[in-house]
Amino acid sequence: SVNVNDPTLIALVNKLQDVFTTVGVQNPIDLPQIVVVGSQSSGKSSVLENIVGRDFLPRGSGIVTRRPLVLQLINRPSPAKLQSNGVSEKEMKEMSDSQANVDEWGEFLHLPGQKFHDFNKIRDEIVKETEAKAGRNVGISPAPINLRIYSPNVLTLTLVDLPGLTKVPVGDQPRDIERQIREMVIKYISKPNAIILAVTAANQDLANSDGLKLAREVDPEGQRTIGVLTKIDLMDAGTDVVDILAGRVIPLRLGYVPVVNRGQRDIENKKRIDLALKAEKEFFENHPSYRNKAAYCGTPYLARKLNLILMMHIKQTLPDIKTRIASSLQKYSQELEQLGAGDFVGNNSSNIVLNIITEFANEYRTVLDGNSSELSSN
Ligand code: GDP
Ligand code: NA
Ligand code: MG
Repeated sequence: SVNVNDPTLIALVNKLQDVFTTVGVQNPIDLPQIVVVGSQSSGKSSVLENIVGRDFLPRGSGIVTRRPLVLQLINRPSPAKLQSNGVSEKEMKEMSDSQANVDEWGEFLHLPGQKFHDFNKIRDEIVKETEAKAGRNVGISPAPINLRIYSPNVLTLTLVDLPGLTKVPVGDQPRDIERQIREMVIKYISKPNAIILAVTAANQDLANSDGLKLAREVDPEGQRTIGVLTKIDLMDAGTDVVDILAGRVIPLRLGYVPVVNRGQRDIENKKRIDLALKAEKEFFENHPSYRNKAAYCGTPYLARKLNLILMMHIKQTLPDIKTRIASSLQKYSQELEQLGAGDFVGNNSSNIVLNIITEFANEYRTVLDGNSSELSSN
């Protein structure tokens, strides 16, 4: 399926994580955060939801996303996997009791310990919590909602949904709403570790894209910005985004991906996400402008592009991780030596760990090296 859930990548990151847990290093690979930026109702929440492959975000016309949503996906092996890894049956039973036999659930920071197995209830809680801080009307708040989703099918990764850029205050919005949202967005996209999905509706002029403009301010070289063109299905007959994809309008190093999300009517009819992704695929495969490049269109291609970026990121961080581990081991063994327990660790252990990482890198070399040339082309 689609999602940020490439099995190879998940296996790779899990293995790396296992190696580091063994030597007591927490979160060695600080995977990039994926952040959406764009005008109000350009389709940001829809894009994120399609990437995750689950229905759980409030979407719709007007200002729906009114607080940042920091969504942490956390990979957690399914009970079957745990069992094969030697977790006892008793432990299994305790786990499954507390999980109600479901592998996937959400948990909010503001509701610790409360597991949401029903993703519709997650959406209801986001709406409720938005209203709690940002009012029932169209107000906004910079206080983030923190949501974790545990699942065996996701990469441990953070995604951030943000309110859309807007110019004119409506209702009881503050007069400086434009500045307030801008600051909120800048805070998330200026992190060097953020991958920016600059979302622009295809039925608007790319030159006026607020998302692209803001992305350029924080990432002028376009090292970490992917252009996402939504609402391809709403373009006037006879028009298309082929020139944009070819880099002839506003070139972006990492290119653009055209997508078709669910429209307002689909939301009202509660169209299922799998059917929406199927419809998207058919749209590109049957459209005269895109059918010869359908493999480079749609949500699956966007997910693939993101996966490649993550692979490259992991590859680039490996040497640094090695250095960090080596120095922390050195410090550790020095401390132990001072306590007179030097032999306990021995000089070999740092070598052992470095060997494990080198082996790891060798084993995954083909994956890590994989098709990085694909990233720059459309
Ligand atoms: P956000 O405000 O940027 O987060 O945008 P939403 O994801 O909430 O979507 C805003 C509106 O645009 C909703 O009514 C969506 O149904 C609609 N929408 C988003 N993407 C598409 C698309 O690709 N095609 C169509 N037809 N409608 C879309
Ligand atoms: Na919206
Ligand atoms: Mg939104």
